[in-house]
Amino acid sequence: MGQLKWWQKTLVYQVYPKSFLDTTGSGQGDIPGITSKLDYLGSLGVGAVWLTPVYPSPMVDNGYDIADYTDIDPSYGTMEDMEELIAEAGKRNIRIVMDLVYNHTSDRHAWFLESRTGRDNGKSDWYIWRNANPDGSAPTNWRSIFGGSAWTWCEERQQYYLHTFAKEQPDLNWENPEVRQALYDAANFWLEKGVGGFRIDAIVYIKKPQEFRDGPPDSADGMVNIHSMTANTNGILDFLREFREKVFDGKDIFTVAEANSVGPEELHDWVGELGVFDMLFEFSHTNLEFTNGEIWCQATGYRPEIIPALKKCLTASQKATADNGWYPIFFENHDQPRCVRHFFPDDADPVHAAKAIALLLFTLRGTPFVYEGQELGMDNVSWGSIEDYNDISSHGQYELAREEGYAEDVAMRFVQRYSRDNARTPMQWTMERHAGFTTGEPWLPVHEDYATYCVETESVAEGSVLSFYRKLSRLRRSGKASEVLQRGNYVEWTGLGDMIYAFRRQWAGKEVTTLVNFGSEEVHYEPQGMDQTELLAATHPMPAKGVLRPYEAVCCMGDCLAGRGKGVQKS
Ligand code: GLC
Repeated sequence: MGQLKWWQKTLVYQVYPKSFLDTTGSGQGDIPGITSKLDYLGSLGVGAVWLTPVYPSPMVDNGYDIADYTDIDPSYGTMEDMEELIAEAGKRNIRIVMDLVYNHTSDRHAWFLESRTGRDNGKSDWYIWRNANPDGSAPTNWRSIFGGSAWTWCEERQQYYLHTFAKEQPDLNWENPEVRQALYDAANFWLEKGVGGFRIDAIVYIKKPQEFRDGPPDSADGMVNIHSMTANTNGILDFLREFREKVFDGKDIFTVAEANSVGPEELHDWVGELGVFDMLFEFSHTNLEFTNGEIWCQATGYRPEIIPALKKCLTASQKATADNGWYPIFFENHDQPRCVRHFFPDDADPVHAAKAIALLLFTLRGTPFVYEGQELGMDNVSWGSIEDYNDISSHGQYELAREEGYAEDVAMRFVQRYSRDNARTPMQWTMERHAGFTTGEPWLPVHEDYATYCVETESVAEGSVLSFYRKLSRLRRSGKASEVLQRGNYVEWTGLGDMIYAFRRQWAGKEVTTLVNFGSEEVHYEPQGMDQTELLAATHPMPAKGVLRPYEAVCCMGDCLAGRGKGVQKS
């Protein structure tokens, strides 16, 4: 491994702008709000901020339905605000990373408005149009990811158009070179503004299969999740290689693609020396409760069995990138429930849970991605009625559960556990009304526990989740453990039981060991090879070698040439 790049050494922080900080009293966050918190982000050691979309949008999917790729939605501010954010961030050594949503646009995008008018306009094949079946039904039985058919009838054009997500998010036709060029131009526009990279949304769906066929139904509605029919199909890499060449090649930026379904065995085509991106998000470790696609009413909820599976997934991705490529380490984002509930049973202390995940985040090999509020230990919400939820996928999944015959209260339990709104409640800044997020009415209610879990409280409270994040971020950035944490190889330490996840990172004769107890039982283990170690961080006060209390996690540093670990090691 040669020199590490800047983005391999830093911490990336994901901002969901609508929920970050409102400076106008509108009840929605905005770009000046982000700029005003750059010092806070700097104090966490953040080197890049990934913004979920801030482009003009009807906000059917909170900005993932883009109506113009090269402008700013007025609710977020102006292009000048954006330029100021990029410049102010730059002064603090923070790069701004934009979200490219290139599988689809909004149905209000000028391209779609033209395309839908008929079959012979300049943009007529910029989207995916098909005739109805002879009986008038949709071309295939594909279900969109948000629920309901993936095809919507357009009266004006007398054809169906395809949408992987909501009907307001028509899929672009990447087969058309003009479409591809228009997308590359938009990305280059942002590079000229000085952004430091891109997160690339839903990219596995851009290449559609040669033939559109029905798939085997996966639920009572007779449909099949479009994901299993169109994700990562043959030929996608040709598009992606062109994308890299026309936009990213030779630039001092990073790219991270959302690439659900790209497994470790294909990684060499996707990341690393010959791959198309620098990193990719794949979701095997966050999808462990789903036995079939991501249908919420077919999920199992938390079970202790997900922990051995979690270890397996994390080890697989660490191994897959050991010699080639690099992983983003993440446990939360704007689509996931909060991790304090995700990987722990309801009776686990959320502070311990949040810290245990933080230890993994900073000690696994890869770039840590922190989602806003994760550093505070923010928790899920639990609202009573589907009407309380804004997230479009919650509504689709609720309908699906009802169609499957689940009672209202059961359908609501799925929503409460998996709704993306769990991660989208406003950021908790202060103990004041609405957690200091807005002086108006917040677009989503603030979590009721905000006075305990907010920046103001946690900046001074001893043992807070925030202080733990600051400490771990420092450890990874500078000091004696930093090289091992950034560069060290990964060796899993197995044999400590199903609920313990343990591994060692090794570099230049130094070693960092992380041990996490995901279980509710105290566990005793032989601390082999740890006699010379020094404690770096721990979730509980007064940790003892050889014992892990329920949900306790520790991280120690030692000299691996002195005391060798003899646990069964899997490399
Ligand atoms: C990605 C985004 C998600 C969005 C979807 C459609 O999965 O992370 O928030 O709804 O793409 O663009």
